[in-house]
Amino acid sequence: MTQAKQKQRIEYGDFQTPDVLARSVCARLHTAGIRPDVVVEPTCGIGSFLLAAAESFPRATRIFGFEINPEYLDILHRHIDGHPAAPRVQLQQADFFATDWKTRFEQMPGRILVIGNPPWVTNSAQSSIGGNNLPKKSNFLGHNGFDAISGKANFDISEWMLLEILRKLHGRSADVAMLVKTSVARKVLSCAQRRHDAIYDAFLVCIDAKKNFGVAVDACLLVMRLDPAAKSCEDYTIYANLEADTGKTTSYRYGISISDLDTFENCSFLFGISPKKWRSGIKHDASSVMELTQTPSGYENAIGETVQLEDMYLYPLLKGSDIGNGRAWRNKFMLVTQRNVGEPTALIQRHAPLTWAYLQAHGDRLDARSSIIYTKNPRFSIFGVGDYAFRPWRIAICSLYKELRFRLISPINEKPVMFDDTVYYLSFDAKAEAIETMACLDTEPATGLLSSMIFWDEKRPVKTSILNTLDWSKFAQNTTLRKTTEQLELVWKIRNESQLS
Ligand SMILES: C[S@@+](CC[C@H](N)C(=O)[O-])C[C@H]1O[C@@H](n2cnc3c(N)ncnc32)[C@H](O)[C@@H]1O
Repeated sequence: MTQAKQKQRIEYGDFQTPDVLARSVCARLHTAGIRPDVVVEPTCGIGSFLLAAAESFPRATRIFGFEINPEYLDILHRHIDGHPAAPRVQLQQADFFATDWKTRFEQMPGRILVIGNPPWVTNSAQSSIGGNNLPKKSNFLGHNGFDAISGKANFDISEWMLLEILRKLHGRSADVAMLVKTSVARKVLSCAQRRHDAIYDAFLVCIDAKKNFGVAVDACLLVMRLDPAAKSCEDYTIYANLEADTGKTTSYRYGISISDLDTFENCSFLFGISPKKWRSGIKHDASSVMELTQTPSGYENAIGETVQLEDMYLYPLLKGSDIGNGRAWRNKFMLVTQRNVGEPTALIQRHAPLTWAYLQAHGDRLDARSSIIYTKNPRFSIFGVGDYAFRPWRIAICSLYKELRFRLISPINEKPVMFDDTVYYLSFDAKAEAIETMACLDTEPATGLLSSMIFWDEKRPVKTSILNTLDWSKFAQNTTLRKTTEQLELVWKIRNESQLS
């Protein structure tokens, strides 16, 4: 594949669905009782879902296909020419983001099925290749400040598309069935619940993405059934494959998705607001310059240079993989150029001339950090600092690992240990407090409550939004009773107001 084609494939999230899979999906929808009058495929590609839907739903009088790529539409036109379903099929070149879906849907009488496989690409992957296949207003999740321009506001464009379709189907009887990443499906369902979209039934069916698309991600068929008169459902079922007729229930309660409602309820006495806020490790986006290993001849960076630096701005470093693997410190250090976000960095020149000279020598590399958080702040800035980052004792966990493994981290050579931004941590002034908290976190109810809200198939399964719900102070109060629904709803309200959820 040429480089231009490769870029185009990334930008348009282009993974065409195999015909066999599209047919099995439609058969599954038929078994679930879905009988549309109209079928819509908003990003139809070369049309495997259009043709499969035409066969599975003979009662559908109109089958609409939209697609941005004219070459795909040409292929589809040729394919459909002479096909028995051709008279029912209508194709149009269209950019999803520029389409007035509300008017489109209004022109379609009867029960609509929106089906397909929207692009598999995130906004940050788009920006890394200079792609522009995005909604105009991309901060739809309502993140503000730092979150909006750093990783937290990263989203899949399929998530945006699905939420947009749900919004534009408001007041209609309809079904939506899309192949998406499982994490996207979960986010869409949570958001739809928060918005009180009238989804009366929803289910997920796991799909083998490696076999069907050659990519190693957790993917599923997400099905949402809408009825304007219905109350939003609070539970949805996950089936292991398209043939399975029994599945596992996931619930949405108190503003969160819960993978194991029984365990959640049994441990609910701990559900609340964490007495200390979980923080993310330092973000600098320049590990080759900012992370160094101490050797007998000096500090070595990842570019292979060995340099002499003052101790003042160097802190022991444990990376996410060190925390996740339970590894001991490996003589690694991080250059911590600020104690608070936005603090001037020019003072480094006076206090540590060697460090200043080193930063100057790598100024181009540091200036090239693409996020605007760096351009808007003093040169050589970092993020994830504040008083909390310099407390000596820590309890840390790596967000990327598939287990709840907390580690108590003591200072090294009297300096607090720093982490990269894949690590979440609590920090303490007193060793005794850190040890007591660690003892609470390592209990069955604490890990039970957290696990009941974690979905291990996600790329970053451990989240601060989950960790920050654990109120370990309840252990000291000797309360082990389950919270009532009213109490849990109150926690949800307070958490919303304090923006911790
Ligand atoms: C994952 S592929 C799936 C194609 C087809 N739905 C299928 O199931 O085989 C995503 C499709 O979305 C199309 N696409 C990407 N961005 C689009 C946009 N902004 N508007 C319409 N189609 C788009 C791509 O060209 C590609 O055909």
